[in-house]
Parts: sequence; C-alpha cells; structure tokens
Amino acid sequence: MALPPAFLEELRARTPLAQLIGRKTRLARNGRQWKGCCPFHNEKTPSFYVYDDHFHCFGCGAHGDAITFLMRGEGASFPEAVERLAREAGLEVPKPTPEAAARERRARDLHAVLAAAEAAYRRRLRLPEGRPALDYLQRRGLTEETIERFGLGWSGEGRGALAAELKAEGIEPAQLVEAGLMKPRDPERPEAGLTDMFFGRVMFPIRDRRGRTISFGGRILGDGQPKYVNGPETALFQKRRSLYGLDQAREGVFRGAVLLVVEGYMDVIALHQAGFAGAVAPLGTALTAEQLEALWQISPEPVLSFDGDAAGARAAARAAELALPLLAPERSLKLAMLSGGEDPDTLILKGGRRAFEAVLQAARPLSAALYDLLAEGKRLETPEQRAALRHRLEAAARAIPDKALAAEYRRALLDRFFAGNRRGGGAARPGPVTPRRAPIDLAAIRLERARNLLAILLRHPALLPEVEEPFAALDLPEGDCVALRAALLRFLAEAPLLDSAALMDHLAHYGLGAAMAWALRPQGLSAASLQEAQPAEALDGWWHFFGLLRGEAELVADRDAAQLLLAETNDATAQARLIRLSEALAALRGGDPEQGLRTAW
Ligand code: UTP
Ligand code: MN
Repeated sequence: MALPPAFLEELRARTPLAQLIGRKTRLARNGRQWKGCCPFHNEKTPSFYVYDDHFHCFGCGAHGDAITFLMRGEGASFPEAVERLAREAGLEVPKPTPEAAARERRARDLHAVLAAAEAAYRRRLRLPEGRPALDYLQRRGLTEETIERFGLGWSGEGRGALAAELKAEGIEPAQLVEAGLMKPRDPERPEAGLTDMFFGRVMFPIRDRRGRTISFGGRILGDGQPKYVNGPETALFQKRRSLYGLDQAREGVFRGAVLLVVEGYMDVIALHQAGFAGAVAPLGTALTAEQLEALWQISPEPVLSFDGDAAGARAAARAAELALPLLAPERSLKLAMLSGGEDPDTLILKGGRRAFEAVLQAARPLSAALYDLLAEGKRLETPEQRAALRHRLEAAARAIPDKALAAEYRRALLDRFFAGNRRGGGAARPGPVTPRRAPIDLAAIRLERARNLLAILLRHPALLPEVEEPFAALDLPEGDCVALRAALLRFLAEAPLLDSAALMDHLAHYGLGAAMAWALRPQGLSAASLQEAQPAEALDGWWHFFGLLRGEAELVADRDAAQLLLAETNDATAQARLIRLSEALAALRGGDPEQGLRTAW
C-alpha cells in the first residue's frame, strides 16, 4: 500500500508522540524533550529520549517515529499502525487510487517547480537587475550569510520572464499557475493569458517544516502598497497551517532556543541573525489553531511577541482567546509586548541583541497577562461595567477544557478583578510588566517584616485577641521571632490585663529581654509600631505585614475561607476579617499607595 507522503507527514504531525509513548513508559520532561526508561529493553536508569517527531534510545539504539513505535511496541503491521494513529488523530487513511497516485506525482513535481523558481529568484538577486534589491537587504542590516540562509531573491520585473526562464527546464506555465507563481490575467477571459504573481519584489521563500519551499512572500522595495504579497493557497501551501521560519526554528529550539512567534518575515530574519534561532511568523494573518498545534509540537510554552501598539494589544487578546480552549498543562503560552512602536527588527537594529533579550525576560505567562488583555480599555466605573468584565473573565476561564487548569485561571483572574476594583473603582490598572525580581536577600527581608509584625504587638498587646488565630498559624523565621510569639500568646492566655508594662515583665521573666530589644530597635520599624499610634493604625499595620509574610497562595486560601465563614455567620467580625485579608492580599500584590505603610522593602 503506497500512502501519500503528505498524508503520513500530516499523521506524524498530528500525533503527540510523547503522549503516545507515555502510555507505555513513564516519561518526564528533560529540557526540550522527554526522557524515560526504554520500553524496548530492560533498564533502570533512563536512556530513552522522545523528541517532537522521533524517539531514540541511547541504551539499545531503538529509534523511530510514531508508526514504528506501534510496530515495534505492539507488533502492529504498518497498515495497522497507520490505521490506529489515523483514527486517534481523526484522519481518514486515503484509499490508494490511480487518481491519488497521480496527485502525489503532481505534488512531487510542484515541489520541483518551486525549487526551480527559488533558484531563479536567487540568481537574479546577483545579476545587475537585482542590485537595488540586494542593496535594499544590505541597508536593512542583513548579512550575506542571512540572505543565503533564508534564500532571499529578486523576482525580476515580470512580463513572463520567469516562465521563459523555467521553460528551459521543462516547466510549463500551467505548472507555474499550480505553484501559485502565475495567474490568469483576467479570470473571465482565459484567452487573455497569464501574468506573473510577483514582480518588482524581494522574494522570501516560505518553507514547510522540513525545509521544502512551498510558496513565496514578496516585498516591494521601499514604500508602496501592498507592502507584501503572499502566494495564493495551493496544493502545497495552506496559510493557516504554515509558519514562516518553522524549519529553522525547529532546529534552533532543538538546540535550546526559545520558540518565538513574531508578526513579520523581517522580524523572523532579524531575530535569527541576532541569535534568536527559534523565531517564526504567521503568514500575514492572525495566528490560527493549526499554527498553535504546530508550535506545541515543538515547545510546551512558546512566546508570542506583539508590537506595543493598540493593534498589537488586540492581536494579543485574539491570540489568547484562540489559545484558551486548547490549553492543557503541557500546552501554554507566554506573551511578550514590545513598546514604543518598535517591532523586533527595528528594536534589534537600535538596541542590539540585548534589547530583545530584555523583552523576552519580561514575557509573562498567559495566566498572568490575560487579565490585562481582557480588561484593556474597558471602563469599570459602574456596577454594570464591572459585572460585564467579570462575566468576561469567568467565560475566559470556562473556555479552558482542563478542569483543574480552568479553576486556577478563574481564581487568578477574579483575584485581580477584586483587587483592581477595591483600589478605587477606576479603570483596572495594568499589572507589573516586568516579572518580580528575586530580592537580594529574601531571608533578611522576611526577618524585617516579622520584626515589624512583632513590634506592633509588643507595643500594642491589646490587639492580641483580635489577631490571635492568624498570628498563631503564621510561618515565622526560627529563633527570636518564634520565641517572642510563643511568649506573646502565653501572655494573652495568662495575663489579667493586656498592657505594655505587664508584657515587658512577662518577657523579661521568660528571658526574652534581648529578643524584645532586638524587635523594638527603631531603625526600619513602621509608624504602626510607635507607642503613639492609634489602635486602628496599629492594626492596619499588623495586617499589612501579615499579608507580606503570609504569601500569596495562603492569603488567597485564607480569604476564601473567610468568605465562606461570612456567608455562614453573616457577622461583623467575619466581615472585618474578610476585608482585612482582601486588603492584605492587595498590599502583597503590588501595593496600595494610599496605605502609607510603605517601608524600605
Ligand atoms: P508589517 O507591516 O508589520 O511588516 O507586516 P514588517 O514585517 O514590519 O515588514 P517591514 O519591516 O516593513 O519589511 C507584518 C507581516 O504582515 C504581512 C507580512 O507577512 C508581514 O511580514 N503583510 C504585511 C502582508 O501580508 N501584506 C502587507 O501588505 C503587509
Ligand atoms: Mn518591520
């Protein structure tokens, strides 16, 4: 049975190999690939690797693709293996007919036609007629090596020159039409003849994942409209399935580069030249689901980069909404937004490799960027407007098929929603664009926060009953902090009167005089721990430091619990607790400038 190579390729592309093999042997992610114990020989330490389209065992040498895996692993015949994989991928195995065989032959011929055209365009770039095009590419900063690597060329001036040239190689004009290089001058009147699809343009070969040219994009020299022309859909070229640069990006990602989606051909090329070997671009259209699938075959978390203008933000929102129903724990995205009207090409020209490196560093996971994308430009002044956004956020989370993942997204989105609303009811603020940096000394910062928390209670022991429970459960640095807390809680249980003087005696009695002096050292303490602070102010301060120490995940859980409690009891204490926890959460997440409790960290 001779199956069309295009079908087999589609079958391999649609079969998630790691998932298939993962049913036989446990695989763990190992950098860009998966690793596990070889299912074909007995081993205790894993030497079996699964890449995006093949597997290889460094122990026994077993090697192959999805089809060979089923054949070797389950003793399936070739047709059986193909049949099974096709069923799982939702594909129909083509019946071998004479027509299909003829189609296959034509496709093979079509590849040859495109390869011949590419060679002709590349030749022309080096002729005197191609000089302006070559100058143009060099002016845009492309090196000789880059021009060769991407196979850039010059179309010539048209008027049938390409057809005349390829005639010598036995290629007919009708084949050029099939390849998307010529078209009828007038579709209504075939007798009017054919005309060139591309003339007066720099030619960018568009290649499939295996590096075979399947179409071209052509750019005008300098200004003029349309700036780019792309080949039409053909038997070989489907825009929604192709990505410019994918063949080279696969290589790059395999060697460790980040898989990166940008908007334009020139961006892909400039990025490769600057060493970002994982760059690809869609073909002048918005990203499609098919393209996302192709990306996930290569990397679990490609980075989508968008221009920093309104159109870029809209494109990012569209991409996010497209991705949501397709997300899974091993299939996500990151978003990187450029700024100041730059695209990757111009950014690199101005700021070099480092400028784009910074953009990549600031890329945010979809889960973190989504709120801003959905809230972008929305007014949030009336209850109706806020409710509309909330519905939008909930709908976005609901779109994710994986239940656990959907719940995580819902929580993250609604947290931002409530935090944003509470901050004053204006338009939602964009979140921090740069990721939180690892502080220089986390432990020291934590210790200072704990010291502030304790100092407030040492000065205002009357607050103890109100905070007893969260205080007792808080994770504090070992040593003086923990000892002081124990003493404070004992004091609360034993002392008839919660005043400062009695507390000092109590601590001295337990040998904690030095620890207390440490905790009350004035430098670095907030105003809330001053003797003269009002009780309400002191309490605010306490909750502030509590929030900072508690950690985001725990605070969210606390707050949810408080919400439940309030729903059950509907009493004022529960309500106060809920408000405190929400405030602490907001403070932790980026600050409430009105709070007046900002300290050096
Ligand atoms: P841009 O207009 O952002 O172009 O279009 P660019 O990549 O920055 O191009 P240069 O730097 O001016 O050369 C982004 C992509 O949109 C498609 C092309 O795929 C282009 O790479 N496009 C753009 C078209 O298909 N047709 C057009 O007329 C313009
Ligand atoms: Mn550009």
